[in-house]
Amino acid sequence: MTRTARVRAYAKLNLGLRVLYKRPDGYHELRTIFQTISLADSLEISYSTARSTVIEMAGTPDIPDNLAERAARLVMDAAGKHGAVGLKLSKYIPAGAGLGGGSSDAAAVLLALPVLAGVRIPMEQLTAMAAKLGSDVPFFLYGGTALGLGRGEELYPLPDRRAEQALLVAPDVHSSTADGYRDLSVTLTNVGLQNKLDSFQRSAWGNCSGEDKSILINDFEDVVLARYPQLGGIRERLRRAGATRVAMTGSGSAIFGIFDNPGKLEQTRLEWEKRAETGERVFSVSFVSRTRYQGAWRRALHQDMHDRQDRKGNDTWPPQSRHAR
Ligand code: C5P
Repeated sequence: MTRTARVRAYAKLNLGLRVLYKRPDGYHELRTIFQTISLADSLEISYSTARSTVIEMAGTPDIPDNLAERAARLVMDAAGKHGAVGLKLSKYIPAGAGLGGGSSDAAAVLLALPVLAGVRIPMEQLTAMAAKLGSDVPFFLYGGTALGLGRGEELYPLPDRRAEQALLVAPDVHSSTADGYRDLSVTLTNVGLQNKLDSFQRSAWGNCSGEDKSILINDFEDVVLARYPQLGGIRERLRRAGATRVAMTGSGSAIFGIFDNPGKLEQTRLEWEKRAETGERVFSVSFVSRTRYQGAWRRALHQDMHDRQDRKGNDTWPPQSRHAR
């Protein structure tokens, strides 16, 4: 018996990212708003019963320490049974760009594999497994718009908003998260901390209204732009093209511009593609709400999941396997 599902692992943007201070555990305390977007990897996951556990990864030969594979190992350990897992990954999300591609692939395995393997793993346990894999992984268990605190793993849902459109530019620059934090760490002060909290709070309220025109601030921009000056040029060009808000996502290197005018966005994309720098990639993306995100998951897994609802008629989350005893 083999069960297979093909799922989309969506990328994310950080709609503002404030780094407050370095914690005793070595991580940095953050405030951010995560947003899933339409750019996605495609992942085919298969499960079959077997005498011993084997996890095979195809499609991406040179990703060291692949998070999706590690996620599969965690699920099989928690399942308490053996099985053969096949993972076939088609990568469309640029790596080292702050778009959460690897994290999203890992979360996709955490959501899909229990459903295929017929095991129930409570959300608290899935979240703990996700946080173990990386700070951004828990967000992708929920998707949509969410407030991220702590090291990014403490999440609170924000209301679904209209599907805004953005132009995303990923230069041929692999920005290291650990280096970004190291460079940023030396610039952190107590005065800066209070100012950051005040301005983040203002922008979170603006975000909630859905008519947000506030400036997006990512604290990584100064240190990452100092390292890679060409990113400053991209930011400027997006502003000049008429984007209402422009920012870097995560610890970079991708920069996005939100456009109110879809015609202007499309025209900018076409012109940019004609004169793109070597290795630079340009994507037209839209925000993916939690309703759309979880709906896509239900469609992808419908053959193997319960279409159960809670007493109020809401669909249960995460997807539950119809093969679990
Ligand atoms: O959690 P993740 O594996 O994505 O983190 C990669 C590295 O980034 C960590 O080892 C740490 O150096 C740094 N980091 C941090 N503070 C955070 C998240 C990540 O210092 N909130």
